[in-house]
Amino acid sequence: MQDFLRNLPKVELHLHIEGSLEPELMFALAERNGIELPYSSVEEAKAAYRFKDLQGFLNLYFQGMSVLRHEQDFYDLAMDYFKRASSEGVVHIDIHFDPQAHLQRGVSLDVVMSGLLSAKQEAEQSLDLSVGMIMAFLRDRPAEEALQVLEQAAPYWSELDAIGLDSAERDHPPSKFVTVFKRAQELGLARVAHAGEEGPASYVIEALDLLDVCRIDHGIRCLESDEAVERLYQKQTVLTVCPLSNVSLNVVDSLTHHPLPALLDKGLNVTISSDDPAYFGGGLLANHIACAQSFGWDEEAFLILNRNAIKEAFTTEPRRQELLARLDVVKY
Ligand code: ADE
Ligand code: ZN
Repeated sequence: MQDFLRNLPKVELHLHIEGSLEPELMFALAERNGIELPYSSVEEAKAAYRFKDLQGFLNLYFQGMSVLRHEQDFYDLAMDYFKRASSEGVVHIDIHFDPQAHLQRGVSLDVVMSGLLSAKQEAEQSLDLSVGMIMAFLRDRPAEEALQVLEQAAPYWSELDAIGLDSAERDHPPSKFVTVFKRAQELGLARVAHAGEEGPASYVIEALDLLDVCRIDHGIRCLESDEAVERLYQKQTVLTVCPLSNVSLNVVDSLTHHPLPALLDKGLNVTISSDDPAYFGGGLLANHIACAQSFGWDEEAFLILNRNAIKEAFTTEPRRQELLARLDVVKY
């Protein structure tokens, strides 16, 4: 099974590129940029990655990304993950990135975008990997700031596939961002949002109704509301579920109790992703292996999940058809 999962062409729709920053690279960039880290070694950093909840993780996530200052740093961050993912059989990734987290530290949007876009271009030329770009807004910051960043990103609108909504979910409902998402719609950008991770099922419904999203990131708490499940089922809105993330952030108490099988039983359009692989114990392959071990799924289950992901990926139609055709001939 592990060989099958490694060789399977896998697609990841939910990945925060800043959450792919491995401690080894964090230390190298800290040294390069003369930045002091609160850890004395890679081991000490890894030992600190035990989280009580989403906010506990976000604190270390924002601290970790403080080593990213220059275009080269963003390029190195993204290429490091693209190479690792590609070596594990990942063929497409839609990346989230958090411009506000960098602007706040005095790092310009041009620095962030040039580094990430060069890495995307390099990966698409030299690796068997396509990359979608999701500019995410921090929901615990003011909506006006998000709108301003969206306008500031005008030179890059054509490079973006979508906008997203992430960071601390509790008490920051989708309704807060209606104006920003309407503006993105006017600009012809797709919309996605984290909802139903730590927040209630009603946020899933709000994201569908008020933000007109084509994708719900996480969404697992939809199971607490028949209405939310029904709405997701009727629209077949894709859910980007991140099993190892949910266990790390205590959204679920163990993988064997994870609601993934229940979501599939309800006929929902489920996919799996790694969210923040450097912090949650592994990338897309590790998430696949963990699911195989915990749920006893057969090969067909993983083909279905990755077919769902390919259909919803932010990529060109020829690439989508190529990836679907490659799944059709996978042997097991
Ligand atoms: N930003 C990075 N990872 C996140 C997660 N799991 N939920 C919300 N915001 C995030
Ligand atoms: Zn996420």
